[in-house]
Amino acid sequence: MVTPSENTPAKFYATTPIYYVNAKPHLGHAYTTIISDALARWHRLIGDDVHFLTGTDEHGLKIQQAADAAGLAPQAFADSIAPLFAEAWGKLNISHDDFIRTTEQRHRVGVQKLLQACYDNGDIELDTYSGLYCVACEAYFTEDDLVEGNCPIHKKPVEYVEEENYFFRLSRYGDRLLQWYRDHPNSIVPDYRMNEVIGFIKQGLLDFSISRNSFSWGIELPWDDKHIAYVWFDALANYITAIGYGTDDEMFNRHWPVDYHLIGKDIIRFHCVYWPAMLMSAGLEPPKGWAVGGWLLVGGEKMSKTTGNVVNPLDLIDDIGLDGFRYYVLAETPYGADGDFTYEGLIGRYNSDLANNLGNLLSRVATVVGKKCNGMSPAPLADSPLALPAAEAVRETMARWADVQPSRALEATWQLIRATNAYLENNEPWKAEPGPALDAVMGDALEALRIVCILASPAIPETAQTIWERIGMPGQITDQRLPLAVAWGGYPGGISIDKGEPLFPRRKLTEN
Ligand code: ME8
Ligand code: MG
Repeated sequence: MVTPSENTPAKFYATTPIYYVNAKPHLGHAYTTIISDALARWHRLIGDDVHFLTGTDEHGLKIQQAADAAGLAPQAFADSIAPLFAEAWGKLNISHDDFIRTTEQRHRVGVQKLLQACYDNGDIELDTYSGLYCVACEAYFTEDDLVEGNCPIHKKPVEYVEEENYFFRLSRYGDRLLQWYRDHPNSIVPDYRMNEVIGFIKQGLLDFSISRNSFSWGIELPWDDKHIAYVWFDALANYITAIGYGTDDEMFNRHWPVDYHLIGKDIIRFHCVYWPAMLMSAGLEPPKGWAVGGWLLVGGEKMSKTTGNVVNPLDLIDDIGLDGFRYYVLAETPYGADGDFTYEGLIGRYNSDLANNLGNLLSRVATVVGKKCNGMSPAPLADSPLALPAAEAVRETMARWADVQPSRALEATWQLIRATNAYLENNEPWKAEPGPALDAVMGDALEALRIVCILASPAIPETAQTIWERIGMPGQITDQRLPLAVAWGGYPGGISIDKGEPLFPRRKLTEN
């Protein structure tokens, strides 16, 4: 038999968008970052060699203007905001392996190398641009794109700009991109997003401007230092500069191509059209995958710094607890669809899945073992009625994480919690006499709980570890490896159980 440790682990490189430092992190950023984190944690659990990257996007006109408004030089301004993202991710228990800032030297070196490679390949040429621009998007629009004369995303006026710029000859890449997507039909998840990308490419691709010469907050073009790189050209490159493009070939070759870029649907064209063309031009492989999330809405509108309807994720953690918040983000909305954030939804999800299901299971098990087994855990039966539901939960949870569908993965894991609670309700161990029959039921429930802890740990890492310890399991869940660790029968029994405080006390809506 081949055990996982005998295989070379698969590599798994995943990224979040790098967020603009024009304002503090908000719930929308936390949304994408938590989903990326859970996916990275899942891949560590299945034994992959994971590299998980996040960071901040610090150049361009939007940041320059925000710095001006704050009365700071752009670098000082970026230096004041970037740590707020790093701190927020610390508080949300984000397990990134690297955090890149686009003002770092390693990034500058890599961006210039990428620019030069596309230039040398004949894909960058000087031309004059005139048209409409939204600074909040850092993107061009046509008259047809506008909604009531405004940017369709930020609902703010666009500007007319005319500049001599360098252009990337995206128009040359339409056929190659279509062919690449035909050859990689499963590279975009959810799959319905692929149609949007193909449709956009088929409309005909226009060259896009990749430089600016009207302001200087950016990275100079290596062959013409009167121009700086367009912020999106600069920003997209983070995914390769952070892993050593231009500075560490060995590391770059180990991680590239990326397995998943996790992004919001607002930036799909940049990631699924511009970026693979830029990579092809530079002689690099396109990404292996993109996972495109929907928007978290507040009252039907996209939460956005520019619009101002933001919810601070750190306030929500103070209120509902870190893992309550993480669980809500992961479980409430199928990945890809828009979700409406409501406080009622947050509390409702917490009460039903965490307080009533998981919390209740732990408390029942710990109470009965404390009272009827002298606080010492029994071992599970090899042929337990819960063995089949456990195997099904494992299979389904694994399949849904592989599809980047965390809400469905958690739903599958929670099926085992429900099956275990139902098993306890059928057997009523709280009424039964101590003895082998009761011991068998409790050993089975403990084993199910052990498996649940492992499967749920990417979503609720802190709480899963706490439950793990309360049921007497040694070490860290993060050292467990699937599939071996979730095979039925791993709970040893004969260990003392710690009831402890309720992990998820029920919440009333009126508390806010
Ligand atoms: O676009 N709901 O940065 P950004 C869900 N710097 N996700 C949301 C969201 C919401 N309401 N609001 C933001 C940029 N996001 C560029 C990216 S990458 C090379 C450069 C998330 O600060 C979502 O993932 O505007 C979205 O794509 C991202 O934040 C945009 O963050
Ligand atoms: Mg944005």
